[in-house]
Amino acid sequence: MTKVLTVIGTRPQFIKAAAVSRAINEHGGIKEILLHTGQHYDDVMSDIFFREMDIPKPDYHFSINTSTHATMTAQMLEGIEQAIIKEKPDKILVYGDTNSTLAGALAASKLHMPVSHVEAGLRSFNMDMPEEVNRILTDRVSTQLFCPTEAAMQNLQNEGLATTDKTVVNTGDVMYDAALYYAKQASQRSTILQQLGISHDKYLLATVHRAENADDKERLTKIVNAINTLAKQYTVVLPLHPRTKKMIEQYHLSLSCMVINPVGYIDMLSLLQNCHLVLTDSGGLQKEAYFFHKYCITLRDQTEWVELTKAGCSTITGADEPKILQAVADMYDKPFRNGSVFYGDGHAATIIAKHLAT
Ligand code: UD1
Ligand code: UDP
Repeated sequence: MTKVLTVIGTRPQFIKAAAVSRAINEHGGIKEILLHTGQHYDDVMSDIFFREMDIPKPDYHFSINTSTHATMTAQMLEGIEQAIIKEKPDKILVYGDTNSTLAGALAASKLHMPVSHVEAGLRSFNMDMPEEVNRILTDRVSTQLFCPTEAAMQNLQNEGLATTDKTVVNTGDVMYDAALYYAKQASQRSTILQQLGISHDKYLLATVHRAENADDKERLTKIVNAINTLAKQYTVVLPLHPRTKKMIEQYHLSLSCMVINPVGYIDMLSLLQNCHLVLTDSGGLQKEAYFFHKYCITLRDQTEWVELTKAGCSTITGADEPKILQAVADMYDKPFRNGSVFYGDGHAATIIAKHLAT
């Protein structure tokens, strides 16, 4: 029996862990201990995912004071270290590129524990992003690197990390597994369209939460202006991340679109499946737009999901208001073309479980 201690703490990590935990159970021979760092803590950012997606109750759940990155990461490190010492797992499993990811990887490597990294190899080549630092450091100390794409494999090759003492494998993307599995449930269970009084194909779906946008007054103002301009012509639904909500208030900005609280994954999938197109700075949503054959306008200056921009499924606009408006105009009536398979076949989690058991 392989004992795996999984470290998660943010909304997308709950979604990814739901897919992998299910595959771990189906595989057998692995005991998973779940540790929630507490990075995300509001019900709509955390507990709702555990309830709706049948994720087991975490064995450890910390409460952290989310002040600065260093304080947050340090608080997580302490707790994770204690859990590792107590549980004596065979490996530590981490997801993505958040502070929770880095804390898990660092605590493990200080105790000479093997680290398995889901979403390894992604790069934006922008070291100003906290996520870029987190993912580079995590990849460096990982022994099992599960890449979601060919581009991620290539990045690890280029950095000399694809060595024989490590497992570096293109598993496909566990978010695709999750989207396929829960989309069926979303069409049966979600009533979000009725609740909001919106209908299929008649609205744009937007999210904004990246530090580079939310914490930069000039960029956030331009994005808010673009959304407000679009809202004069279209229904724009915006589930607002608490970080962005706080900064919009702080900068005295105001949104005139349909602003709603963050929603659970089931409602989010329904919003995604039924929208006309997506505007986002989220990593996850760029791909989910593609999974559901929607064009994506990416409110960032670069992306880790380069295959989408190369294929013309996503357009990078940054926070440039005229570019955002032009991209919507260009894409609104264009039929979606989707010829390539970028993210595996929906069985990434099964491949990961197999490797975790070794
Ligand atoms: C974090 C990740 C980001 C990921 C995102 C997923 C890092 C550096 N960033 O960004 O990569 O895309 O999660 O959503 O790890 N807040 C609440 N309630 C919550 C959670 C957050 O009010 O439940 C507010 C707090 O004011 C907090 C702020 O949002 O200070 C930012 O939260 P934090 O977890 O630091 O970063 P995210 O923007 O969520
Ligand atoms: N998501 C959600 N509810 C929301 C907004 C996003 O369930 O109100 C989901 C979204 O569908 C995706 C994941 O959360 O699966 C992405 O999270 P986020 O954008 O916070 O982080 P990122 O992917 O950029 O790290």
